Amino acid sequence: MTLDLAAPQLAATILDGKAMAGLLKAEVARDIAKLNSLSVVPGLAVALVGEDPASNVYVSSKVKACHDLGIQSSMEHLPASTTQAELLALIDRWNADPNIDGILVQLPLPKGIDVNAVVDHVHPSKDVDGFHPHNLGLLVSGRPGLVACTPAGIMKMLAIYGQSSGWTPAGKRAVVLGRSITVGKPMAALLVNAHATVTVCHSRTPDLAGRVAEADLVIAAVGSPKLVQGGWIKRGAVVVDVGIHRGDTGKLCGDVDFETARYMAAAISPVPGGVGPMTIAQLMRNTVDACIARRNVTLPTS
Ligand code: GUN
Repeated sequence: MTLDLAAPQLAATILDGKAMAGLLKAEVARDIAKLNSLSVVPGLAVALVGEDPASNVYVSSKVKACHDLGIQSSMEHLPASTTQAELLALIDRWNADPNIDGILVQLPLPKGIDVNAVVDHVHPSKDVDGFHPHNLGLLVSGRPGLVACTPAGIMKMLAIYGQSSGWTPAGKRAVVLGRSITVGKPMAALLVNAHATVTVCHSRTPDLAGRVAEADLVIAAVGSPKLVQGGWIKRGAVVVDVGIHRGDTGKLCGDVDFETARYMAAAISPVPGGVGPMTIAQLMRNTVDACIARRNVTLPTS
C-alpha cells in the first residue's frame, strides 16, 4: 500500500516519553524520600565493558538519572580486554554488598564474554534489567517480578496514553518486531499478559509489511533505520519506536519512518524523546522496587 498524503490525515498523538518519564520519576522520587525517612538509600551498580560509544552514552544517562533522584550509583568502566572471570568476580562483590539493590551490566558485551553466564550470575533480587531466567520465568507465568526496563517503560507509556484516550492493549492485535531478550521477548509476554493477541516478527518473518498492516499496535525493535514505512501501518494504529540510529547527517531516527507513519497512526512515539527516557525512568523504578523488596521495608503512606 502506498501512502496517499492527499487523503484526510489523522493528527497522531505524539507519545512524549520525556514528559511521561517525568511523571514516572516524580513517583520514584516520592518513594525515595520515604525510604530516606527510614534511613534507606537505594543503590545501583553499573558495569560498562569496552568502548561502545552508544553504550557509553546510555550508561552516562543512567548514572545521571540516579544522581538526579538520589539513588547511590557505583559505576565501573572496564577495558574491552576484561575476562569473563573478572566480570563475574565483580558481580560476586556486588551481589554480596548490602548497599547495592540493583546490578546492571550494559549490553552488548565484548566478544569472549558469554552474556548468558553474566546474566545468570546477577542475583535475581538485584536483577533490575529483568534478564535473569528467574525473572523472565515470573514474567511469562504472569507473576510479579523485575521486568526489563524498555518493555516495562513502554507498558507505562501505553497506560498513560490510555488514561487520556481510553485506549487499551486488551483485545488488540499487537505486532512486535524483534525477538531480543532486552525488548522483543519480554514485550510480547507483557502484551499477552495484558490480553493482546501478539505476533512476534524477526529476520526470517516473510511479508513483514503484511504483518504490520494487521496490527492495532506496532512495537518496532529491529535495529534497522526507518524500516517501517507509513504505508505499512493500519490507519489508527498505535506505533512505538524502540530503535535509535544516527543518520549520515548526524540526525537521530528510529526503526519507523516517523514522517510518513505519523499520518497513519493514532499515536506514535518519536525518536529521540520517546522510549529512551521511559527506559531510564523504569530503571529507577526497578531499582527502588528491588530496594523495597530486598530490605523488606514498608513505605509510610502519604
Ligand atoms: N543494552 C541495550 N539496552 C539495554 C538494557 O536495557 N539493559 C542493558 N543492561 N543493556 C542494554
